[in-house]
Amino acid sequence: PSETGLDGWLRYAALPDEFANLRSRYSTIISLTGNQSSPVFTAARELQVGLSKILGQSVNLETKLPGIADVSSIVVGTVKTFLSAGRDTPDILSLKEDGYCLICKDGKATEIIGQNEQGALYGAFEFLRLLSRNQPLPNMHISNPSAPIRWVNQWDNLDGTIERGYAGPSIFFADGYVLEDLTRVQQYARLLASVGLNGLIVNNVNSNYNLLNPINMQGLARIADIMRPWGVRIGISLYFDTPKGLGGLRTSDPLDPDVIAWWGSITSELYRHVPDMLGYLIKANSEGQPGPLTYGRTLADGANMFARALQPHGDGIVMYRAFVYNHHLDESDWKNDRANAAVEYFDGLDTQFEDNVIIQIKYGPIDFQIREPPSPLLAHLRKTPIILELQVTQEYLGQQDHVVYLPPLWKTIFNFDLHVDGQQSLVRDIVSGQRFNWSRSGYAAVVNVGNDPTWLGSHLAMANLYAYGLCTWDPQQSEIDIIQGWTQLTFGLHKTIVDTITSISMASWPTYEDYSGNLGIQTLCDIVTHCHYGPCPASQDGNGWGQWTRANAHSIGMDRTVATGTGNSGQYPQVVAERFERIDTTPDELLLWFHHVPYTHRLKSGKTVIQHFYDSHYAGALVAQTFPQQWEALRGLIDNDRFDHVAFRLRYQAGHALVWRDSINNFYYAKCGIKDEHNRVGNH
Ligand code: GCU
Repeated sequence: PSETGLDGWLRYAALPDEFANLRSRYSTIISLTGNQSSPVFTAARELQVGLSKILGQSVNLETKLPGIADVSSIVVGTVKTFLSAGRDTPDILSLKEDGYCLICKDGKATEIIGQNEQGALYGAFEFLRLLSRNQPLPNMHISNPSAPIRWVNQWDNLDGTIERGYAGPSIFFADGYVLEDLTRVQQYARLLASVGLNGLIVNNVNSNYNLLNPINMQGLARIADIMRPWGVRIGISLYFDTPKGLGGLRTSDPLDPDVIAWWGSITSELYRHVPDMLGYLIKANSEGQPGPLTYGRTLADGANMFARALQPHGDGIVMYRAFVYNHHLDESDWKNDRANAAVEYFDGLDTQFEDNVIIQIKYGPIDFQIREPPSPLLAHLRKTPIILELQVTQEYLGQQDHVVYLPPLWKTIFNFDLHVDGQQSLVRDIVSGQRFNWSRSGYAAVVNVGNDPTWLGSHLAMANLYAYGLCTWDPQQSEIDIIQGWTQLTFGLHKTIVDTITSISMASWPTYEDYSGNLGIQTLCDIVTHCHYGPCPASQDGNGWGQWTRANAHSIGMDRTVATGTGNSGQYPQVVAERFERIDTTPDELLLWFHHVPYTHRLKSGKTVIQHFYDSHYAGALVAQTFPQQWEALRGLIDNDRFDHVAFRLRYQAGHALVWRDSINNFYYAKCGIKDEHNRVGNH
């Protein structure tokens, strides 16, 4: 049979006949609301669709609760509707916003109780996941998300292109307008909701003002309407100079009364169309964009202007991006460092922001590299909450042509202890709001699905979207459990399938690191043409972008120490700063991020830096050769279409890994002239 991938992990493959006894167990779904646009009703319908596919039988959907629900029914609702239907609810105090309780007791109806309407939907999806995976159903299971903000960003342009999108044109826009047919948007909302994601910013951070015309505002209303039953709310990115460009004002100065009034009226207009709008994502004074600094104002002045425009309308927030830096930096100055920019620009502003401003911070100080320490800004904000920005789209990480399963990388950030104020401060506890008592904070990932039937251009890449949702719900979940669960739902329960995909996925990030950028040197891809793809180590240096390696004939790496370098290590709290300041306490994988050393410097492993480069590139490329071979084990166990699609990509990756290996090794060999101990490099 052929499978397009449109359902992603929501295929609901039929369970084998030995599970026939479940058929009588689940014959009726009872929704405690009849309102068809409520996520509770969506949950009931999803249960109906899912169960009928999994069990191969028709399942009824009812909206009226009989006195005592039959044992063969599943009742879904919120705490409130359960109470008003006169049913007992479990300890509701332990339910947090969006949480749910799943009760599967023998001899009783199954109950899915959401803290709110979305919670009921998340509980329904969890129930369907357990059933599809043939996992034991819990007697009673309460589950709460780690953070209230679990959003995705799309970098879609109104002309239908997607910045850093690798899976075809936009599912939202074409030719300057919101698409008429939003079928794919509805399917996307379903995928997002299924893993607990509850918000989406629809347009590119590099935005313009064309989204704000009357036709597109109606279009935004249609997008919001179609996503709302899935509990996914929308927000938009704004262009800072819109008052000048669209409003015809002489300035976009955030303190100018006309500018303030202009944004006020645009915001009211937007809320007329999207009454539950999430708010505004702002990229300003970054990569040539205008912003408050353009008008001699502070970043807080800029953020607060939008925040005040939103305040009269509900709970809308400003997601103000910390990605503010000068991209014309002079490399000849040893002290210059783009990694310092965020802390420098936001210095002293922590107490200056309105309550509905949240700072959105990329996980690392530079830009979605294969290996970065956490952004030091994560340790500087106490009062102003944050959103941690990740990428599901693999901008620097092979752009979905290479399989790179991302949770192991994300975990290096989530589990990092920043030791703020001398106390344990895991990044995941800062992000959840727990560390500094924030009520609203969380995660955003740039996803960039397109209208390709696989959504991301590659079937295996979808594991990252699934994992992103699960990680925002619980950042401590094991990355192995996540990939195994995803594989079972997407490709089937057969052990060979699960073991093979788990093996490839778990090896994929270290493998990509081995052949694309070692020891914290960053991903050595093409920076100058901005494609961020393929090996091009020469392009890192000699430009103003600041993603430098400072490689010369003798030595390599960024000296980010306080003693002799850019001082970046000193932006971290003391315990961390001291660790990164010294070579002997900096872990090898971040050595060249923080230190400039000779190629002959010996690592903790005993190898020299250059030999480590050579060896890792051979080792990584070798592992990549095994991926297509491993995949062969799945021939005949999964449908041919998806088998061939993945096989093709893995073969390509294996070839491209050799290109990476030889390009990088030859480049550094040519630079330093140090021979490979195993005599491989330079001998082609
Ligand atoms: C990266 C990316 C850009 C993007 C920018 C951002 O630099 O390459 O395309 O606009 O990040 O996050 O704003």
